[in-house]
Amino acid sequence: MRMAVSGIGRCASTGALRAKRPAGAAAEGRYSHGPEPLPCTDDPDLPSHASARTIRPRQRGAAAMSGAARKPITLHRLRAMHAAGEKIAMLTCYDAAFAQLLDDAGVDVLLVGDSLGMVLQGRPSTLPVSLDEMAYHTRCVARGNRSAWIVADLPFGSYQASAEQALHSAAQLMQAGAHMVKLEGGGWTAPLVRALVERGIPVCAHLGLTPQSVHALGGYRVQGRDDDAAQTLRAHATELAAAGAAMLVLELMPSALAGELAAALPIPVIGIGAGPACAGQVLVLHDMLGITPGTLPRFVRNFMHDGGAIADGVRRYVAAVKDGSFPDPARHGY
Ligand code: KIV
Repeated sequence: MRMAVSGIGRCASTGALRAKRPAGAAAEGRYSHGPEPLPCTDDPDLPSHASARTIRPRQRGAAAMSGAARKPITLHRLRAMHAAGEKIAMLTCYDAAFAQLLDDAGVDVLLVGDSLGMVLQGRPSTLPVSLDEMAYHTRCVARGNRSAWIVADLPFGSYQASAEQALHSAAQLMQAGAHMVKLEGGGWTAPLVRALVERGIPVCAHLGLTPQSVHALGGYRVQGRDDDAAQTLRAHATELAAAGAAMLVLELMPSALAGELAAALPIPVIGIGAGPACAGQVLVLHDMLGITPGTLPRFVRNFMHDGGAIADGVRRYVAAVKDGSFPDPARHGY
């Protein structure tokens, strides 16, 4: 869920305007520590002055943290977690520094969400985010990550035209370091999903509140409340799984409906504002770290509420997703 914006503030789910403040700068692909400096002169993302510096690869092995210790999360592993009933902890991530921190803290899936348009760029919606911007942030995340599974959003306008367009766009994100691409919507997206999957690109589908359709949906509202809407969501979810989607994000819908879908589908369903019965949970990083200003939707929990280090807040999130204490149906559900 695109929650709020750090720059021109608008809560993505409520649409509430916030006071303006300068947007933060994303990390520029440098790591703050690491054992062996490597020269890096051929990276087009680096500012020109960076060629006079050195790039340090992320520290491996030394950090006795889960990201450093665990084996890489693969699609096979995610399926095994789903089959075993182990909850999948997913967070959005947009830069190398946080990728390393989240990976080390045990986050299973890093989502390079197009929410970056709102969170990092201060835009009023995700619609203006470009494919180049998504590829840039995916490269940054891939550099900082060691073992988490990386999902990158296909932004608005990069897949709607045709399967060919979707393939071309997805290829750019995969070459940037994504392991899977995510696209929004059901019905018309099933042939696109099939085309991508047949060509070796794992796909995560996204139903419920699909923020790229915010203007058609009339705002950031809970979806699937009435019988017809719920029936359409059931049909779309079933069709997307049959088309080969390997994961499904359900955003902002009644917990009972999301739980029903999660139980019925053979693929892991990751919820955001969709109740506790999903196979995993995702939140926007800046929301759960309490960085996002203003009042957030009820499904967000601030894992920094009690203070401490950011890594501890992220570990609290992973633990709460894994043990099922987040989301709490009474406080975070619909
Ligand atoms: O862009 C995004 O952050 C998302 C959500 C599911 C968190 O798609």
